[in-house]
Amino acid sequence: MRSHYCGELNESNISAEVALCGWVHRRRDHGGVIFLDLRDRDGITQVVFDPDTEESFALAEQVRNEFVIRVEGLVRERPEGTQNPEMATGKIEVLGKTLEILSAAETPPFQLDEHMAVGEDVRLRHRFIDLRRPEMLQRLRMRSRVTSSIRRFLDEQGFLDIETPILTRATPEGARDYLVPSRTHPGKFFALPQSPQLFKQLLMVSGMDRYYQIAKCFRDEDLRADRQPEFTQVDIETSFMDEEAVMAIAEAMIRTVFSEHLSVDLPEFPRMSYADAVKKYGTDRPDLRNPLQLVDIADLMQKVEFKVFNAPANDPESRVVVLRVPGGAEISRKQIDDYTAYIANYGARGLAWIKVNDLEAGMQGLQSPILKFMPDEVVQSVLERSAAATGDILFFGADKATVVNESIAALRDRVGKDLQLLSEGWAPLWVVDFPMFEKDKEGNCTSVHHPFTAPSCSPEELQAEPLAALSRAYDMVLNGTELGGGSIRINNTTMQQAVFRVLGIDAQEADEKFGFLLEALKYGCPPHGGIAFGLDRLVMMMTNSHSIRDVIAFPKTQSASCLLTDAPGEVGNRQLRELNIRLREQQKSET
Ligand code: AMO
Ligand code: AMP
Repeated sequence: MRSHYCGELNESNISAEVALCGWVHRRRDHGGVIFLDLRDRDGITQVVFDPDTEESFALAEQVRNEFVIRVEGLVRERPEGTQNPEMATGKIEVLGKTLEILSAAETPPFQLDEHMAVGEDVRLRHRFIDLRRPEMLQRLRMRSRVTSSIRRFLDEQGFLDIETPILTRATPEGARDYLVPSRTHPGKFFALPQSPQLFKQLLMVSGMDRYYQIAKCFRDEDLRADRQPEFTQVDIETSFMDEEAVMAIAEAMIRTVFSEHLSVDLPEFPRMSYADAVKKYGTDRPDLRNPLQLVDIADLMQKVEFKVFNAPANDPESRVVVLRVPGGAEISRKQIDDYTAYIANYGARGLAWIKVNDLEAGMQGLQSPILKFMPDEVVQSVLERSAAATGDILFFGADKATVVNESIAALRDRVGKDLQLLSEGWAPLWVVDFPMFEKDKEGNCTSVHHPFTAPSCSPEELQAEPLAALSRAYDMVLNGTELGGGSIRINNTTMQQAVFRVLGIDAQEADEKFGFLLEALKYGCPPHGGIAFGLDRLVMMMTNSHSIRDVIAFPKTQSASCLLTDAPGEVGNRQLRELNIRLREQQKSET
């Protein structure tokens, strides 16, 4: 139907007869001449109709925004003074000869260039229109290209693309499962995979050696800007490779993608232990573009009168830290109150601060509500340890370590952005030496990664002191986002059982849930390991988008629903009966 895409026309096409198809982006009536901006996937071309072509002119008068039309015409240079250097096709226009209306359009729920004026819910409900916006097209185009580069890279490295089941058993990655009732097995349920973890390990037992999959994963968890209930992983597994080899391949893959699609040569990926990351940044995914660091001062606070500081200073499970912000003395009281309210979301019960108005002036040069609670020598030691300078503000966090870490890490991010302290560009790193386990709220051990991650100690050491055990896991972090994570896996039954035991999974439960894995480990399981990247997050970062919803064609809302199709939806009684399911509400109304 067409000879060219709208966006591809330029001066080299002048005098050519062309046929274009697309949507009317804008229509302007300039007394006697009608201009149509015709848009397709590739861009926009201006088409001009004058009254000489009577029939098409009459049609051009009828068309409205978002009509789908086909035009034939002659490419010509735009007259002097009407050229538009902002537009790729701004030097030319098409003199329309024929116009055919392929599909009329009602007035759209929002104009494409006014999408900001309507809420995201309106855009999601009419996603097919929202996706017509050039930015959205660009993002999906980038996603397609990135995916294709990743496939090419992995294919060239000898990886096999193998699909794994969607209807399966629970795979523990720390979230709730999405369940699917089985009609043929009354009372039984499939779980949608949280990741292909166990299948990819089984593929290694089968000798596939190098596997990858662009895999859909499903997790019923609290959603944020970088989390969706249904998302895509670039999932990788290899045999006979140690962590260095897996990390090298993963890093080369990410470098290739950045170089091919952003012309960015990523800087070196420093290695940082989990312990260091948490100590300096309060998080295991630090944004290294941000220069601010947490400095421990519990030892200085053990004897001060100030309860807020001395109680945590004397508790081994707590932390007292200072965060020095260069130039922060300018921050207003109101802004400090805002920060205090902000970190209260992370459990912080306050935000003490000292402004260093003039370092030379000693105590006189400081301004703070907490100076009266602390001896001058202690304040001096804090200034020295944090390397405070005139013009800085020092923020303090004192509480249980988890509260201090989460709240001061959030403050660090926020203040870094507000005061524009972040350096330009990309700051990748590998976080390594994670602990195997952490304690949950009930005091039980849970896996920091997943239960199939190999520890770097023996089964005996693991069981003797589980919380001290480190794992052979690695996470790739970029600008404060966890892009990917993986590990070397356990490849023998004894170790796997030891881990299950620490997790409080007894032999019977282990057998019920993971019997197939334990069995596979007995039949010749090579040393193996892998990694999975969040494809949506990767593309989100590469397109500089604020949310992963912007790089997913049909995303779900924060409450995990699809506004376009109105899913999840209700199900008729007949279907429920077939599935042997009775809803609680139903039960009530029946009795
Ligand atoms: P993990 O759980 O760390 O590891 O997931 C790997 C990567 O997937 C992305 N990701 C998500 N992206 C969007 N929405 C979500 N809800 C979401 N959850 C995770 C992140 C994360 O780094 N099987 C292991 C990998 C392995 O050990 O090989 C796993 O799934 O970018
Ligand atoms: P208060 O004595 O409770 O009024 O607190 C004095 C100062 O310490 C105020 O600036 C509070 O915001 C701050 N503060 C209170 N609790 C904490 C805490 N856990 N960590 C850091 N600062 C705190």
